[in-house]
This record gives sequence, C-alpha cells and structure tokens, in this order.
Amino acid sequence: MYTLALETSCDETSAAVILDGRNILSNVISTQVPIHRKFGGVVPEIASRQHIEYVMPIIDEALSQAAITLQEVDHIGVTYGPGLVGALLVGVAAAKAISFALDKPLIGVNHMEGHIFANFLSHPDLEPPFLSLVVSGGHTQLVCIEGYNSFKLLGQTRDDAAGEAFDKIARVMGYPYPGGPQIDKLAKEGNSNAIIFPKALHERNNFEFSFSGLKSAVLNYLHTQEQRGLGYVASDVAASFQKTVVDTLVEKTINAAAYCGMKKIAVAGGVAANSGLAEAMETACRAHGYTLYRPEPVLCTDNGAMIGCRAYYMAMEGRFADLTLNANPALAI
Ligand code: KG4
Ligand code: ZN
Repeated sequence: MYTLALETSCDETSAAVILDGRNILSNVISTQVPIHRKFGGVVPEIASRQHIEYVMPIIDEALSQAAITLQEVDHIGVTYGPGLVGALLVGVAAAKAISFALDKPLIGVNHMEGHIFANFLSHPDLEPPFLSLVVSGGHTQLVCIEGYNSFKLLGQTRDDAAGEAFDKIARVMGYPYPGGPQIDKLAKEGNSNAIIFPKALHERNNFEFSFSGLKSAVLNYLHTQEQRGLGYVASDVAASFQKTVVDTLVEKTINAAAYCGMKKIAVAGGVAANSGLAEAMETACRAHGYTLYRPEPVLCTDNGAMIGCRAYYMAMEGRFADLTLNANPALAI
C-alpha cells in the first residue's frame, strides 16, 4: 500500500511516499529556514507563499524518488493541524485537489501524532502501548499511546513550548533561528551547574509543563549581567538552561511512565534531537528498566514521512476525511 503524505504546517514543505506504513520510499523536505532566519523566526505570510511555490515540485520529486506515479498512490495523508493556518491550507488544498482529481481517499493527520509516529519509522519493532514525550517548537506534551489509534493526553505546557524557550534564548544571545541546535552545540562546552535557574510545576504526578518562568529567568540573567557590565559565559548559560529543561522533561516523563504503567518511552518532535535530552533520558530509562525510543534526527523535525506513517494507521481503521477537510491551527491530540 502506497501512502503519499504532505506536511506544510510551519516552515518545511515536505512530501513523502511510504510503503505499508513503515517503509520510507522517499521523504523530500524543503526547508525555509534560511528565508526566515533574517527575521529571527517564522514569518507566517512568507511561509504560506513558499509552500505554494514548492508544494507541487516537492510532490513530483517524492513520487519520482519512490519510482511510482500519482495513479499508483493508494491514499493521501495531509497535516491539517496544529500549525500556521495559511501554511496548513496549502497542503490541505493540494491534497484535496489530488484526492478529488484522481479519486483517492484522503486522510487528515494531526501533526503532533505524526511526530510520535516518526518512532515507528525509526524502530520497526516498536508497538503500542508506550508513553510519548512530544517536544517541538510549538508543543510540549506527555501522551499515552494505548494503541495505533488510541491516545490519552496526560499533560502539556501551560505556556511556552520547550523549543520556543530554546529559540527565544538563543535569539537574545545573538544566535540565528532556529536556536535549539545552537544551544545544544554551545551547551556541550559549558558548565551546566554554573547558574541555577528555576524549575516549575515540580510536584510529583503533575504532568503539566511551564517554561515561560524559566525563559524570563534566563533573559533577566542576561540583561542584568550586561547592565552591570559583567557579561556572561554563553556556553555556561546554554548548558545551565538546557540542563533545567532536560531535568524537567526527564523527571516528568519517568514519573508519567510509572503513573501509567508503561515500560517503553518514545520521545518525538524537534527538541527530541537535543543531545543533552537524549543522554539524560537514556540514563534515566536505563536506571528504571525502561526502553527508550527516539527517531533519527531528520525524522525528529518536521517531515512528510511521519505524516505518511500516521495516515497509514488511520487508513487501516477507515478513518478517512472528505473534501470538507479544513486547516485547524489549534487541533488537539
Ligand atoms: O518539531 P519541529 O521541527 O517543528 C514544530 O513542530 O515546532 O521543532 C522545531 C523546534 C525548534 O524550536 C528548534 O529549535 C527545536 O525544535 N530543535 C532543537 C534541536 N533541534 C531542533 N532544540 C534543542 N536541541 C536541538 N538539537
Ligand atoms: Zn513539528
């Protein structure tokens, strides 16, 4: 079964062809990062225009790399939320047009569920149930994956997402968008105990997150040090900030696994590419006898393949959309 999948929720235009749910035949990703970089973050209107320009050539390239024709596709999956409304609309309109013109079943995919399903592509042996920590630029969530189509949201962030905090702090420190990978690199050279930053919602079995207080504390520190003419050691700030985020993510995930009786933990989303998080989560999982899963870096950040995998498992249960499918920027899991 061939799944064609489209992803245009933010600043990556991507199309993929997946065979039988878990085999990537192609995963073409066109990133707009260099375009948005000069603005310090994603400009929604520019993102939509770029998606319009690239979506059809990217689909052609994905089909060509998979060596199949559009006629051979069995169904089309597309991200319809959450994300930037104008950006989502481009993928949804393209998928609906193909679905209508070629009479192919259409599947509307939740972007966050797609991130979780990236783990199925990187780990052929992984099967539900498991616990997932999804950490991206827009979301931070703990989700119990009870079955391929059965999820329970345990908790999410009350304010900023983890990736958002990484990006904002990097920007104030003068590093280009997206800041997460920059902080990750800097943190490797710094002392993570140099500065003590606050942790929020620390109580056991509280599965909500809050990163806005931490973000403000880091920004205040930078500002105060500069005002006093003292400056700061960028690598120490990066390492101390990253450790605070990572400690919180690991602690809550390990608590959540015990709470819902899960032995397998799968991290997902752009921040799952963070090396400090990977290392700390691996250590904690080993200590507690849990197995850790993480997609390879290219499948952590936005891509069409993860949407194709999610779409396939929805198709298996006949969860198809019709042509009234619309973008839903605030779609929940
Ligand atoms: O999942 P994603 O590609 O897009 C969203 O759905 O938001 O995640 C992008 C986020 C950005 O905030 C980026 O800075 C962060 O993931 N990120 C990282 C790393 N790589 C990407 N954050 C920390 N360390 C990394 N290595
Ligand atoms: Zn994403």
